[in-house]
Amino acid sequence: MTGPKFDQDFWERLWSKTLSEQAGKVALRPPNAHLTAEVAGLVPGHAVDAGCGHGAETLWLAAHGWQVTAVDFSASALAHARSMAEAAGDVIAGRIEWVEGDLGTWAPDPGQFDLVICLYVHIAGSVEGMVARMASGVAPGGTLFMVGHRPIDPGTGAPTAAANQVQVSVEGAVAALDPDAWELVVAQDRPRSAAGTGVDAVIRARRRNTGPHQNQLDGLA
Ligand SMILES: C[S@@+](CC[C@H](N)C(=O)[O-])C[C@H]1O[C@@H](n2cnc3c(N)ncnc32)[C@H](O)[C@@H]1O
Repeated sequence: MTGPKFDQDFWERLWSKTLSEQAGKVALRPPNAHLTAEVAGLVPGHAVDAGCGHGAETLWLAAHGWQVTAVDFSASALAHARSMAEAAGDVIAGRIEWVEGDLGTWAPDPGQFDLVICLYVHIAGSVEGMVARMASGVAPGGTLFMVGHRPIDPGTGAPTAAANQVQVSVEGAVAALDPDAWELVVAQDRPRSAAGTGVDAVIRARRRNTGPHQNQLDGLA
Protein backbone atom coordinates (compact mmCIF):
# COMPACT_ATOMS: atom_id res chain seq x y z
CA MET A 1 0.00 0.00 0.00
CA THR A 2 1.61 3.29 -1.08
CA GLY A 3 0.66 6.87 -0.18
CA PRO A 4 2.04 10.02 1.41
CA LYS A 5 4.63 9.64 4.16
CA PHE A 6 3.00 12.12 6.58
CA ASP A 7 6.44 13.41 7.52
CA GLN A 8 7.44 16.99 8.40
CA ASP A 9 7.82 17.99 4.76
CA PHE A 10 4.31 16.68 3.97
CA TRP A 11 2.70 18.51 6.90
CA GLU A 12 4.56 21.78 6.43
CA ARG A 13 3.57 21.89 2.75
CA LEU A 14 -0.04 20.99 3.58
CA TRP A 15 -0.37 23.57 6.36
CA SER A 16 1.41 26.27 4.38
CA LYS A 17 -0.91 25.75 1.38
CA THR A 18 -4.09 25.36 3.45
CA LEU A 19 -3.39 28.40 5.61
CA SER A 20 -2.40 30.63 2.70
CA GLU A 21 -5.62 29.68 0.86
CA GLN A 22 -8.15 29.34 3.68
CA ALA A 23 -6.83 30.56 7.03
CA GLY A 24 -10.27 32.02 7.85
CA LYS A 25 -11.96 28.66 7.36
CA VAL A 26 -9.32 26.85 9.43
CA ALA A 27 -9.78 29.39 12.23
CA LEU A 28 -13.46 28.43 12.46
CA ARG A 29 -12.79 24.71 12.98
CA PRO A 30 -14.23 23.77 16.37
CA PRO A 31 -12.21 21.89 18.98
CA ASN A 32 -12.49 18.11 18.84
CA ALA A 33 -15.84 16.88 20.16
CA HIS A 34 -14.37 13.74 21.80
CA LEU A 35 -11.98 15.99 23.71
CA THR A 36 -14.49 18.57 24.85
CA ALA A 37 -16.85 15.82 26.07
CA GLU A 38 -14.18 13.83 27.95
CA VAL A 39 -12.04 16.62 29.38
CA ALA A 40 -14.66 19.22 30.34
CA GLY A 41 -15.03 17.70 33.83
CA LEU A 42 -11.32 17.63 34.69
CA VAL A 43 -9.76 20.17 37.04
CA PRO A 44 -7.46 22.39 34.92
CA GLY A 45 -3.72 22.06 35.45
CA HIS A 46 -0.77 21.60 33.12
CA ALA A 47 -1.45 20.01 29.73
CA VAL A 48 0.42 18.95 26.61
CA ASP A 49 -1.21 19.10 23.17
CA ALA A 50 1.03 16.86 21.07
CA GLY A 51 0.53 17.51 17.34
CA CYS A 52 -1.52 20.63 18.03
CA GLY A 53 -1.84 21.66 14.35
CA HIS A 54 -3.93 24.82 13.92
CA GLY A 55 -4.43 24.99 17.69
CA ALA A 56 -8.19 24.65 18.17
CA GLU A 57 -7.78 22.20 21.07
CA THR A 58 -4.90 24.15 22.63
CA LEU A 59 -7.00 27.33 22.60
CA TRP A 60 -10.01 25.51 24.04
CA LEU A 61 -7.89 24.10 26.87
CA ALA A 62 -6.31 27.50 27.60
CA ALA A 63 -9.74 29.14 27.58
CA HIS A 64 -10.80 26.56 30.19
CA GLY A 65 -7.93 27.42 32.50
CA TRP A 66 -5.23 24.95 31.41
CA GLN A 67 -1.56 25.89 31.03
CA VAL A 68 -0.68 24.23 27.73
CA THR A 69 2.55 23.11 26.10
CA ALA A 70 1.59 22.80 22.44
CA VAL A 71 3.91 20.84 20.16
CA ASP A 72 3.98 20.43 16.40
CA PHE A 73 6.67 20.07 13.73
CA SER A 74 4.93 22.40 11.24
CA ALA A 75 6.19 25.96 11.69
CA SER A 76 3.27 27.28 9.62
CA ALA A 77 0.67 25.57 11.80
CA LEU A 78 2.37 26.87 14.94
CA ALA A 79 2.53 30.44 13.59
CA HIS A 80 -1.19 30.34 12.77
CA ALA A 81 -2.07 28.84 16.16
CA ARG A 82 0.05 31.39 18.00
CA SER A 83 -1.64 34.28 16.15
CA MET A 84 -5.06 32.85 17.02
CA ALA A 85 -4.03 32.73 20.68
CA GLU A 86 -2.75 36.31 20.57
CA ALA A 87 -6.04 37.41 19.03
CA ALA A 88 -7.84 35.72 21.93
CA GLY A 89 -6.05 38.03 24.38
CA ASP A 90 -3.16 38.10 26.84
CA VAL A 91 -4.73 35.76 29.39
CA ILE A 92 -5.20 32.91 26.93
CA ALA A 93 -1.97 33.58 25.00
CA GLY A 94 -0.05 33.71 28.29
CA ARG A 95 -1.18 30.20 29.21
CA ILE A 96 0.39 28.60 26.12
CA GLU A 97 3.96 27.63 25.31
CA TRP A 98 4.45 26.78 21.62
CA VAL A 99 7.13 24.20 20.86
CA GLU A 100 8.42 23.17 17.44
CA GLY A 101 9.33 19.53 17.89
CA ASP A 102 9.12 16.09 16.29
CA LEU A 103 6.96 13.68 18.29
CA GLY A 104 9.05 10.83 16.88
CA THR A 105 11.67 11.88 19.40
CA TRP A 106 10.16 14.67 21.56
CA ALA A 107 8.68 13.49 24.83
CA PRO A 108 7.05 15.47 27.63
CA ASP A 109 9.01 15.91 30.87
CA PRO A 110 8.35 12.68 32.81
CA GLY A 111 5.34 12.75 35.12
CA GLN A 112 4.91 16.53 34.92
CA PHE A 113 1.49 16.93 33.29
CA ASP A 114 -2.09 16.58 34.49
CA LEU A 115 -3.22 15.97 30.92
CA VAL A 116 -1.48 14.85 27.74
CA ILE A 117 -3.56 14.89 24.56
CA CYS A 118 -2.54 13.66 21.12
CA LEU A 119 -5.21 13.79 18.43
CA TYR A 120 -5.02 12.39 14.89
CA VAL A 121 -1.24 12.24 14.69
CA HIS A 122 0.26 9.84 12.16
CA ILE A 123 2.87 7.60 13.69
CA ALA A 124 6.09 6.73 11.87
CA GLY A 125 7.40 4.19 14.43
CA SER A 126 5.42 1.80 16.62
CA VAL A 127 2.01 2.77 17.98
CA GLU A 128 2.93 1.31 21.38
CA GLY A 129 6.12 3.40 21.44
CA MET A 130 4.18 6.60 20.72
CA VAL A 131 1.56 5.81 23.38
CA ALA A 132 4.30 5.07 25.92
CA ARG A 133 6.14 8.31 25.04
CA MET A 134 3.01 10.40 25.52
CA ALA A 135 2.02 8.46 28.66
CA SER A 136 5.43 9.11 30.24
CA GLY A 137 4.49 12.78 30.69
CA VAL A 138 1.37 12.11 32.77
CA ALA A 139 1.55 12.76 36.52
CA PRO A 140 -0.03 10.34 39.02
CA GLY A 141 -3.79 10.91 38.88
CA GLY A 142 -3.42 12.64 35.49
CA THR A 143 -5.03 11.80 32.17
CA LEU A 144 -3.78 10.58 28.80
CA PHE A 145 -6.21 11.34 25.98
CA MET A 146 -5.55 10.11 22.47
CA VAL A 147 -7.66 9.85 19.34
CA GLY A 148 -6.69 8.13 16.12
CA HIS A 149 -8.43 7.85 12.79
CA ARG A 150 -8.63 4.12 12.08
CA PRO A 151 -9.31 3.57 8.40
CA ILE A 152 -11.35 0.40 8.82
CA ASP A 153 -14.99 -0.25 8.15
CA PRO A 154 -16.63 -0.65 11.58
CA GLY A 155 -19.00 -3.33 10.26
CA THR A 156 -16.55 -5.59 8.42
CA GLY A 157 -13.06 -4.50 9.54
CA ALA A 158 -12.18 -4.01 5.85
CA PRO A 159 -9.78 -1.17 4.97
CA THR A 160 -11.23 2.15 3.78
CA ALA A 161 -9.66 4.44 1.18
CA ALA A 162 -7.37 5.98 3.83
CA ALA A 163 -5.84 2.63 4.77
CA ASN A 164 -2.21 3.72 4.52
CA GLN A 165 -2.55 5.82 7.68
CA VAL A 166 -1.15 4.63 11.00
CA GLN A 167 -2.54 6.39 14.04
CA VAL A 168 -3.24 5.33 17.59
CA SER A 169 -5.46 2.26 17.97
CA VAL A 170 -7.33 0.75 20.91
CA GLU A 171 -5.15 -2.40 20.64
CA GLY A 172 -1.95 -0.33 20.60
CA ALA A 173 -3.00 1.69 23.64
CA VAL A 174 -4.09 -1.41 25.56
CA ALA A 175 -0.74 -3.06 24.76
CA ALA A 176 1.25 0.00 25.85
CA LEU A 177 -0.53 0.87 29.10
CA ASP A 178 0.22 -1.40 32.06
CA PRO A 179 -3.13 -2.06 33.81
CA ASP A 180 -1.40 -1.88 37.20
CA ALA A 181 -0.43 1.71 36.44
CA TRP A 182 -3.33 2.86 34.25
CA GLU A 183 -7.10 2.81 34.46
CA LEU A 184 -8.61 2.72 30.96
CA VAL A 185 -11.62 4.99 31.32
CA VAL A 186 -12.44 4.90 27.60
CA ALA A 187 -10.91 2.59 24.97
CA GLN A 188 -13.37 2.48 22.14
CA ASP A 189 -13.71 2.60 18.36
CA ARG A 190 -16.42 5.15 17.58
CA PRO A 191 -17.93 5.55 14.09
CA ARG A 192 -16.87 8.82 12.42
CA SER A 193 -19.51 11.28 11.31
CA ALA A 194 -18.41 11.05 7.65
CA ALA A 195 -19.77 7.69 6.48
CA GLY A 196 -17.22 5.34 4.93
CA THR A 197 -14.15 6.93 6.52
CA GLY A 198 -13.74 4.37 9.30
CA VAL A 199 -13.72 4.87 13.05
CA ASP A 200 -12.07 7.04 15.67
CA ALA A 201 -10.11 5.12 18.30
CA VAL A 202 -10.75 7.09 21.48
CA ILE A 203 -8.47 6.44 24.45
CA ARG A 204 -8.83 8.09 27.81
CA ALA A 205 -6.62 6.66 30.54
CA ARG A 206 -5.92 7.77 34.09
CA ARG A 207 -2.55 7.12 35.67
CA ARG A 208 -3.12 5.41 39.00
CA ASN A 209 -1.58 7.00 42.06
CA THR A 210 0.36 3.84 42.88
CA GLY A 211 1.99 1.02 40.95
CA PRO A 212 5.20 0.28 39.05
CA HIS A 213 5.14 3.51 37.02
CA GLN A 214 4.75 5.55 40.19
CA ASN A 215 7.96 3.90 41.46
CA GLN A 216 9.72 4.77 38.20
CA LEU A 217 8.53 8.37 38.49
CA ASP A 218 9.72 8.50 42.11
CA GLY A 219 13.16 7.47 40.81
CA LEU A 220 13.11 10.36 38.32
CA ALA A 221 12.11 13.04 40.83
C1 LIG B 1 -4.27 15.58 11.32
S1 LIG B 1 -3.44 16.92 12.08
C2 LIG B 1 -4.28 17.01 13.65
C3 LIG B 1 -4.14 18.35 14.31
C4 LIG B 1 -4.89 18.46 15.65
N1 LIG B 1 -4.34 17.57 16.65
C5 LIG B 1 -6.35 18.18 15.46
O1 LIG B 1 -6.86 17.20 15.99
O2 LIG B 1 -7.01 18.94 14.73
C6 LIG B 1 -1.90 16.17 12.59
C7 LIG B 1 -0.93 17.19 13.17
O3 LIG B 1 0.15 16.52 13.76
C8 LIG B 1 1.36 17.12 13.34
N2 LIG B 1 2.35 16.05 13.35
C9 LIG B 1 2.28 14.87 12.68
N3 LIG B 1 3.36 14.11 12.95
C10 LIG B 1 4.12 14.84 13.82
C11 LIG B 1 5.35 14.63 14.45
N4 LIG B 1 6.07 13.50 14.25
N5 LIG B 1 5.85 15.57 15.26
C12 LIG B 1 5.17 16.73 15.47
N6 LIG B 1 3.98 17.01 14.90
C13 LIG B 1 3.47 16.08 14.07
C14 LIG B 1 1.08 17.68 11.96
O4 LIG B 1 1.96 18.75 11.63
C15 LIG B 1 -0.35 18.14 12.12
O5 LIG B 1 -0.40 19.46 12.59
